[in-house]
Amino acid sequence: MRKNIVAGNWKMNNDLAQTESLISELKNQQKTSNAEVMIAPTFTNLWHASEALKNSEIEVAAQNMHFAESGAYTGEVSAEMLQSVGVKTVILGHSERRAYFNETDDLLAKKVDAALKNNMRIIFCFGEELADRKANNHETVVGNQIKNALFHLENSAFKNIVLAYEPVWAIGTGETASPEQAQDMHAFIRQTLANKYGQETANAMSILYGGSVKPANAKEIFSKPDVDGGLIGGAALKAQDFFAIVNAF
Ligand code: PGA
Repeated sequence: MRKNIVAGNWKMNNDLAQTESLISELKNQQKTSNAEVMIAPTFTNLWHASEALKNSEIEVAAQNMHFAESGAYTGEVSAEMLQSVGVKTVILGHSERRAYFNETDDLLAKKVDAALKNNMRIIFCFGEELADRKANNHETVVGNQIKNALFHLENSAFKNIVLAYEPVWAIGTGETASPEQAQDMHAFIRQTLANKYGQETANAMSILYGGSVKPANAKEIFSKPDVDGGLIGGAALKAQDFFAIVNAF
């Protein structure tokens, strides 16, 4: 079902003590919007976060996972392991995973399958680089990222998938896609899904925007009809800023 979602991607930030303190600040914030709220701390802090947020409105997500159930994959974490610490949602395909850890569409398709097989919800990220946009190639790039990793799925799988459009040139740069650029791309994404899976499935998808969302620009971006929320990096590390974004709906 389509809903408004604001998810905080903490990336490789916050040790245990910092995680404890940010979570207690988050619990003190007032939520005045209907948005679903999630945070994604590092692997080492997921257990603490899911315990600390057990009876709260904030859900805990992971930033990544491996596609295998278990075995000789040194340094990796499986869907089963995430679930065993209370995590039911995983971010897959973030541009930093694609760029620094060589995650390809094919690998991401396997991770998507593993997460769905374990009844996990996925926040699936994609987005073009600056050169793609300058070459007016952004829709082709984004369309292919979606098709290559998701279009082998059955229609019913999409109820467990949230999409996150994150133009690489806007992540952590302070530069944001304009609300119109975000809307145009989100409409294109929804149309791409409609062409393959039908309008009903496409209309039910939550499509988040990510890339330098801040309290000052959230309201305008979220006001666009095809923007259903945000994936927030830097601004998710301050409780007040994060909730100002949550409450921008
Ligand atoms: P940013 O990161 O908000 O710091 O630009 C967004 C993201 O990478 O999800």
